[in-house]
Amino acid sequence: MSFEIELKDRISRTEEIISSYLPEPEDFGSKVMEAMDYSFLAGGKRIRPMLMMETHILCGGDGRLIAPFMAALEMIHTYSLVHDDLPAMDGDELRRGKPTTWMQFDEAVAILAGDGLLNYSCEVACLAFNLAESPDDFAAIASALKILYHHSGIYGMIGGQCADIEAENAQNVTEEMITYIHAHKTAALVRAAMCIGAVLAGADEDTVMKLDHAAECIGLAFQIQDDLLDITSDEATLGKPVGSDARNNKTTYVTLHGIMGSRMKVEELSNEAIDIIRNINHRNVFLEELVEWMINRDK
Ligand code: IPE
Ligand code: IPE
Ligand code: MG
Ligand code: MG
Ligand code: MG
Repeated sequence: MSFEIELKDRISRTEEIISSYLPEPEDFGSKVMEAMDYSFLAGGKRIRPMLMMETHILCGGDGRLIAPFMAALEMIHTYSLVHDDLPAMDGDELRRGKPTTWMQFDEAVAILAGDGLLNYSCEVACLAFNLAESPDDFAAIASALKILYHHSGIYGMIGGQCADIEAENAQNVTEEMITYIHAHKTAALVRAAMCIGAVLAGADEDTVMKLDHAAECIGLAFQIQDDLLDITSDEATLGKPVGSDARNNKTTYVTLHGIMGSRMKVEELSNEAIDIIRNINHRNVFLEELVEWMINRDK
């Protein structure tokens, strides 16, 4: 099977798994649930749950406990986008080819939908306990929960988003600051994805640490590529506006190193990650191809 066909197949299997955990809108609070479903089902590449599953397969996992975590992580990622698009943050009007949640509903509902996705992600992730069959399962789920909420919180994605907003309009944004921002706002959730996949497969500490480093490289490369596409792509292909970073006076890796320098960095980081993945006991060629595809992506 060619990589493209396999990718399409994996995305639709991922969609099926993660969307089965969405809430049914009901009662007087139904608006927030509608907005949660709207943002979640708008599409997206589903990279994080796929990376989680593929890392799990790489580590010899049987997939028994992973589904609630795949859904929970995509909910957290989606909430980060819903809030990222708000006028108080990046002020964008298009996401995943559709009006952003605050445009489709209003700002108050979008804020609540983001809150709802974050909170519900915890309820969903805890459903894994219902699938546990042994003390080892319970311990693995507890570790996975800790990883998920550490990387999405103040020492992870939220911290990175705060530094990103604070650096807007700043004059002397250094490479160190850009690396902090990328490592936290973006790489943290990629680290969560791959480490949870590994931990739920019962991988040893050394393997988890190696994969954690690979995930950090992938996350950094992914954000540099996102910043490149913000300059070089177009709205129809991306499904979100181009020029968002310039409009918000953001300094990015591309501002500091130019398009060629950034492309080289993306390649270097991705090769480092693929090298690590290739040298884990088992092999998962699809995961290697997925990482390769992520750096050459056009959306
Ligand atoms: C967008 O993430 C935000 C970044 C961290 C760059 P994705 O590019 O994975 O967005 P979707 O999920 O495919 O819409
Ligand atoms: C956002 O980075 C990363 C998040 C944690 C949401 P960007 O602001 O560059 O993401 P896009 O370009 O809006 O998807
Ligand atoms: Mg942003
Ligand atoms: Mg943005
Ligand atoms: Mg961007």
